[in-house]
Parts: sequence; C-alpha cells; structure tokens
Amino acid sequence: MSILMKDFIFTLPTDIHYGPGSISQLKELMVSHDIRKALVVTDEGIVKAGLMDTLGALLTEAAVSYVVYDHVSPNPRDVEVEAGAAMGKASQADAVIALGGGSPIDCAKAINVLLSLDEEKIKPFEGKGKISKPLKPLFTIPTTSGTGSEVTFSSVINDTQDHYKMTIKSPHMAAKVALVDPQLTLGLPKAVTASTGMDALTHAIEAYTVKVANPISDALALQAVELINDSLETAYRQGDNLEARSAMMLGSLLAGLAFSHSDVGSVHCMAEALGGKLDLPHGLCNAILLPYVMEFSKPDCQDRYARLAQAMNLNFSNDAEGADMAIKRVKELSATVELPPFNHLAVSRSDFDAMAALSAKNISTESNPRPMTKKDYLSVFQKAYDNE
Ligand SMILES: [Fe+2]
Repeated sequence: MSILMKDFIFTLPTDIHYGPGSISQLKELMVSHDIRKALVVTDEGIVKAGLMDTLGALLTEAAVSYVVYDHVSPNPRDVEVEAGAAMGKASQADAVIALGGGSPIDCAKAINVLLSLDEEKIKPFEGKGKISKPLKPLFTIPTTSGTGSEVTFSSVINDTQDHYKMTIKSPHMAAKVALVDPQLTLGLPKAVTASTGMDALTHAIEAYTVKVANPISDALALQAVELINDSLETAYRQGDNLEARSAMMLGSLLAGLAFSHSDVGSVHCMAEALGGKLDLPHGLCNAILLPYVMEFSKPDCQDRYARLAQAMNLNFSNDAEGADMAIKRVKELSATVELPPFNHLAVSRSDFDAMAALSAKNISTESNPRPMTKKDYLSVFQKAYDNE
C-alpha cells in the first residue's frame, strides 16, 4: 500500500529548545516547571570537560538543589540504572536532568522509570508499552550529535546477567524538555564526532526505509540525511566550526524524531548485539554494518535508497544506480571520518552465531524493509567482516 494511504499518529510530548547558547535557558525552565530538587545523570567525561560545572552554576542560580550520578558507562548498565534511581529516591528528587551523550540520556530515562514508580529493577519494564503512567519531568541536554535520545521514547540498557542490550520503550519516557545547544559539542573529540555522526546517519536511513515509516518521519529523515551528509566531514576536521556543529546537532535531532516515530531496522539489531558483546561505541558498530545491511535490504527498497542518494546530492539515472551510489557514499563517509573496518576490532567469527541469534530476537527486526532470519544475519556479519 502506498505510504500516502496508511494511518499514522504523530505525538511529540517534548518541547524542543534549540540554539547555540540555549543552555542558558535552563534557569527559566526550572522556574517555570517548579523544579526544586533534581537528580543530574551524567558521566565522568562530562564532569572532566567542565560541562557539569556550567550546569551546576545554572541550577544554583535557579535555586535548585541537586545531586549528581556520574557513574554511567559508555553502554549503560542495569546496575547503574538501579544505583542512580536509589540516589534520586534518597534525595527526593522531583525531576531528572540528563547531561551527556546517548549513554547518560538513556540511563536517565530508565532511572526516571524506577524513581517515579518507586521500583527497584529495570528488567520488568523491558519491551514496548510497559509503563502505564506519567513519570517525573525529564530534561535532556545532549552533548553529542548522534543519539537523538533527547527526543526519543526509548532507552537501551545493557543486561549484565545475560549480556545483551534490552530496549525499554514508552511515550511516558520522553523528555519534558530537550535543551539542544550545539555549542556544547564544540570540544567533542574526533572519534566521538565520527561514531556519533554515523549513528545519526543510520537513524535517518533506517527511519526512512523501515516498514513503519510515515510521511512525517520521511520528511524528517530526508532533511537529516542532507544535513549529516553535508556537514559530518567538516565537523570532524574542524571541531570548532559552529555552523557544521549546528548542522550535525540538527541532523541528529531530526533523525531522532524520525526514528522515534518510525523505527530503526536491522543495522541497529546487529549493532546492539555487537555492542553488547564487545562494549564498543554504538555509532561505530552501526557504521561498520550499515552498508552491508543496505546491500541486503536493497531488493525491497531500491527506490527509497535512490531517494536517499538524491538527498546526498548524488547524480544517477535510475533507482538501481541511485541505490548503489547511496551505499557507496555511506562506505566513503565512514572511511572519511576514519572509522576502522569490522575485521580490525577484537571480534572473532565464533561470536557471529550468538550475535546473529540476538539480532533476530531484537524488537526492531520486524521493521526492516527486507525480512531477515538468523541465517541472513549470520551471512551479513560474515560479509561485513570479509569486507565483501
Ligand atoms: Fe542508534
């Protein structure tokens, strides 16, 4: 059926405050939402970079008392969610503020579930729609351009018993306000710019091509692809270029909105299996797998890949050629930002079988444009590893 005839609902529970310097709006936001005690969730890198000092000064100005939970790992763990929630409960926090990349923001969303519902364990909330009532207000302040987590309804948390990434998804998890300030990304290290940028590109490409895409997520995804394709290399080479950083921040925001109203697909299913196994940056896992999943999915969405090639400003004469050019461009972009190929990582072929099984079980696998079985996942892992 044509996408124009399909029903959809577009809900956005998050106010977005965007702009260079917009962090300064925090004081008035705290006052207007009547926040007195906050739990700030961040990580040690953000504290070292001095961003926590900036946030702390703004909270003090707003007469908000706060405690800081900064033990969030690059791939946030269930035990960290539980420890952060315990801190929030002890301090009687009436709001949660997430400052950082996708890891602190995802961790903060899961912490807010336990804090608001007075629960101890996050595992029972795994899956879609397990949260039945509103949570305490969450304020998200991204410091990378990739995750889109500031506006999404989901959180991905590492299950430390079974060693896989579980997804918790509910509109109740969405932030009350996303404060999106590209100035906060000016000091991002190159490797983080590269991997988070490729994560954002993967969100946009998957949101545009999965079965549950709708006309609004399409519009958001195409604009995101254009911005990211145009600006990732400049943001990578000239980290202090505010225009490129702003384009990446907007691209990542639009891609986050797109996939939260559509879905991600098999690239994320595989990247989560790989990242859960090896504790690697999420965006790097996506970047490695993206062109190979696109190659696999191409027979079922060639026209859409061609439309993506158009958004990437590529010239072609038919859909088949356009789809191939989009895949080639994705590979080029990963190489430009110097991300390593799959076989340079500490992974061995003997891991592929278990990772393929996990990928097939991921809740987003059914969204992929071309259905993928465990056997298909295994074959794509092997092709990506062999660079075929
Ligand atoms: Fe992602």
